[in-house]
Amino acid sequence: MGAGERSCLRRHRWKISLLALLLVAAAVVVPLVIVKPWDKNTSKDKDHPSFVPGPQIPINPEQPIVPSKDDTAKCNAYTPALNQPFDYASGELKMRGVNLGGWLVLEPFITPSLFDPYIKDGVVDEYTLCKHLGLEAAKALLEKHYANWVTEETFIRIRDLGLNHVRIPIGFWALGGLNADEPYVPNLSWAYLLRAIEWARKYGIRVMVELHAAPGSQNGWNHSGRSGAINWINGTEGAANAQRTLLYTQQLATFFTSPDYAHVGPILGLLNEPAGFMIGGEPIKSWYRQAIDVFRTATGAGKGPWLIIHDAFLGLGSWTDLKTSGERLMLDAHQYIMFDDNLLRMNRTTQLQFACQNWGSDMVESTEDFGPTIVGEFSVAVNDCAKYLNGVGMGYRWDGTFDGAPPKSPDSTCTNENTASMYDAEYKKFLSDYFNAQIDAYEQGAGWFYWNFKTETNPLWSYFDGVDNGWIPKDANNRGPGFCVPNGYSFSKPATM
Ligand SMILES: *[C@@H]1O[C@H](CO)[C@@H](O)[C@H](O)[C@H]1NC(C)=O
Ligand SMILES: *[C@@H]1O[C@H](CO)[C@@H](O)[C@H](O)[C@H]1NC(C)=O
Ligand SMILES: *[C@@H]1O[C@H](CO)[C@@H](O)[C@H](O)[C@H]1NC(C)=O
Ligand SMILES: *[C@@H]1O[C@H](CO)[C@@H](O)[C@H](O)[C@H]1NC(C)=O
Ligand SMILES: *[C@@H]1O[C@H](CO)[C@@H](O)[C@H](O)[C@H]1NC(C)=O
Repeated sequence: MGAGERSCLRRHRWKISLLALLLVAAAVVVPLVIVKPWDKNTSKDKDHPSFVPGPQIPINPEQPIVPSKDDTAKCNAYTPALNQPFDYASGELKMRGVNLGGWLVLEPFITPSLFDPYIKDGVVDEYTLCKHLGLEAAKALLEKHYANWVTEETFIRIRDLGLNHVRIPIGFWALGGLNADEPYVPNLSWAYLLRAIEWARKYGIRVMVELHAAPGSQNGWNHSGRSGAINWINGTEGAANAQRTLLYTQQLATFFTSPDYAHVGPILGLLNEPAGFMIGGEPIKSWYRQAIDVFRTATGAGKGPWLIIHDAFLGLGSWTDLKTSGERLMLDAHQYIMFDDNLLRMNRTTQLQFACQNWGSDMVESTEDFGPTIVGEFSVAVNDCAKYLNGVGMGYRWDGTFDGAPPKSPDSTCTNENTASMYDAEYKKFLSDYFNAQIDAYEQGAGWFYWNFKTETNPLWSYFDGVDNGWIPKDANNRGPGFCVPNGYSFSKPATM
């Protein structure tokens, strides 16, 4: 170091001292700011001192996940411990939960970062991603994602938010049995599911595992594994794929009937969103009948999990004749506003009213006519602005770039819709009302699961973001008077709607 440099250093010494001071201050302040309350080893975790927050480790496939025999955990004061019965039959005790979506079944809009590097190669779903990468690279990518998207901290936070259930979508590839032309990574996701179930068990959260992706694709959407044609019931391989799906139904039924899993996994989703509007109601109903039969044969009569069937977009009222097909059946509908031009175009007041009166009355009627009914997916999104929600380069209904229809209103843009800090107080108040209106409606039935617990970039689709930004309550069990009743809305449809 020469003299010139030393004097230069002297001249700048005050700046260096200031910098050092700032660095020290940052070292103290930044961790305080970025360490979220749920990361801390707070008194809330005195029951679970064994948990050490930190990066999650991949699973060693040589080391099987051993189920704990301890089913005594209780997630909160309102929910029975796992080894006590949860009264699904009466629907009086509400299921309050989130989906762990975009995890064991990928979805471009939930984790765009997994897809962005390969969009140019034509990758649009898990099928094309795995095919493009090849088995080993796909395995490496997925393993990293599986180990980090859902961790033990996820379950602690879910417990702390007053939730009592999680719905975990899986693909058929979790259970192996792939055809040679199916590029999915077999079995790996099953190990991560089992590890997550142990965390759920530790924190007293009940798990609904559900088959989200069937061989051939039951709806042609990317979250079925493969977007494009429906080759399930429909199509040349449709009958064979529907038959293969029954084998997975049987495997899941058997697995969750075992005493190791019966308490923590008391409900199973048969199949997510089969496209009834394309395949037809009767073929799906007939497959449901077969599946219910396969399921109860595997569990034994009077035993095993509840089975939840999706309404296949044909309306909750379309399934009443199935209720005699088996015991312990539950019905599931998914309620979204942003994919329907009519609902999207309603003003906010009408949307809130619609949630209370239409979705609420659907739950009341279905509970009477069918039995326990849930909403297994919903969000507070009132626009379709989330990146990749409609597909790469597809545009958005909201701003008029999707299907030629005009924007919601002349000045509707998607520019600030995916950034919570850009929402004004009035918008946040609406989101809060819309959340509460939906919860009020869905608790006219047996309960609800928000889609999704988190997303990479879309706050309206993230329960955690909703809590952090104040439009979702911090405790799902203590959330004030709700929306519908205080605002004079009943849970019955007005004659005009
Ligand atoms: C968390 O707190 C418990 C006591 O409440 C303590 O035994 C444990 O060592 C703490 N863990 C960490 C990682 O600080
Ligand atoms: C995958 O899991 C299934 C079901 O548990 C099993 O039968 C099969 O042997 C497994 N395949 C591999 C490659 O481990
Ligand atoms: C149904 O299957 C046929 C092939 O047999 C296919 O051409 C058609 O696109 C499928 N329908 C849907 C909605 O995917
Ligand atoms: C909202 O729409 C309804 C039904 O079209 C209409 O009656 C009402 O006046 C509108 N409210 C506002 C605030 O624009
Ligand atoms: C995802 O699925 C939607 C339909 O749910 C489809 O329109 C879209 O093209 C898919 N997204 C991507 C990135 O392929």
